[in-house]
Amino acid sequence: MKLDATDLRYITSDEFRVLTAVEMGSKNHEVVPTVLIVQISGLRNGGVNKIMGSLAKRNLVAKVQNSKYDGYRLTYGGYDYLAMRALSKRDSMYSVGNQIGVGKESDIYIVADAEGNEMVLKLHRLGRISFRAIKEKRDYLGKRKSASWMYMSRLAAQKEWAFMKVLHEHGFPVPRPIDQARHCILMGFQDAYPLRQISEVPSPGKLYSELMDLIVRFAHAGLIHGDFNEFNILINRVTGDPVVIDFPQMVSTSHENAEWYFNRDVECIRTFFRRRFRYESQLYPRFKSTLSEGAEKDQGDGFRLDVVVSASGFGRKEARILEEVSVDRFYHFRHSKTFLSSTWKLSKMIRRKRVTTVKRRRRKRKRTWERMKTKLSSMKSCQSNSSKETAKANQLRTQ
Ligand SMILES: Nc1ncnc2c1ncn2[C@@H]1O[C@H](COP(=O)(O)OP(=O)(O)OP(=O)(O)O)[C@@H](O)[C@H]1O
Ligand SMILES: [Mg+2]
Repeated sequence: MKLDATDLRYITSDEFRVLTAVEMGSKNHEVVPTVLIVQISGLRNGGVNKIMGSLAKRNLVAKVQNSKYDGYRLTYGGYDYLAMRALSKRDSMYSVGNQIGVGKESDIYIVADAEGNEMVLKLHRLGRISFRAIKEKRDYLGKRKSASWMYMSRLAAQKEWAFMKVLHEHGFPVPRPIDQARHCILMGFQDAYPLRQISEVPSPGKLYSELMDLIVRFAHAGLIHGDFNEFNILINRVTGDPVVIDFPQMVSTSHENAEWYFNRDVECIRTFFRRRFRYESQLYPRFKSTLSEGAEKDQGDGFRLDVVVSASGFGRKEARILEEVSVDRFYHFRHSKTFLSSTWKLSKMIRRKRVTTVKRRRRKRKRTWERMKTKLSSMKSCQSNSSKETAKANQLRTQ
């Protein structure tokens, strides 16, 4: 979805009030009844209706005609607007530039502050591939019956923010966290390429050991990235140093599936280096030995970043909700792959059908052509017969 920053300048205070009322109403209603919007905003009924019309025209809200009542729903555009307004009110962000990335579940933009310093704005869009999964999880979410992409995206942003802050404070190579609002994160711009786009490096062995060291460093701090792959590792354009991004799926080393996540991170790097740089090493970290090493180093203070993060506001409950949906995301993804394979089968069928149709048409054309040919030849023979007969008649006449 395109990010439109025009409204940041032109929206009136009443319009903002009404939009906020829709957001507040969304906490308990999927479609917020107009009466509730009027009640929350504290404005006159007629005024609210007019404003809703103008907000809907700008795609900040969408009118939904329910079987029970009419109301409005906050759109991606409206949610983006509210987050951007919060960031610009805090002077964290001033202008929006080009989109530099479209992730599976996020949009990335270059933005700038009032001095023109470039930053990166990441807007989480969790519902993009997993909306159905979120809907199915409603019961789990208890009172939050209207659990939606908005809420999940917000949780993902909060989680990413909490991890980025803690990691940055402890000297890990991650972007500088600047601000967070709703489903958005503002971070420092990295002049770097994703590892995925790099075909050659001066020393694959050096980069490989740097990345494995990072996995070990994370684990010693009680953390596992969980999505440590060529898409989420940026390589600085000048220094060639790796920078790690994308933390919504980070887990603690005390997570029940921690070993599986750890091994997957290690395996992603090994596979990538084998395929891309033809580099393979017998040396790679093992979960249990890494943890025991970490415990030895740690003797004394027992300091763990996963504990720091859970104390930073992104608690265990939120982590569980997000994880539930993430698990479903994988499920959903697998199913979408099945879907892809079934579409592939379908396309094969269509192709086969097309071939048979073409063959059938060709055969039909041949048949018609042969029929015409026989008709033509019979006509010719008729003609020649009749010409013979007329010749005979003429001959008789002359005799
Ligand atoms: N701080 C940054 N500086 C420069 N580029 C960035 C930054 N953060 C993200 N990007 C760019 O945006 C892309 C996507 O970012 P990110 O991995 O955070 O999103 P995502 O939704 O997880 O995407 P994907 O599903 O592809 O992993 C990155 O590959 C990178 O090119
Ligand atoms: Mg990513």
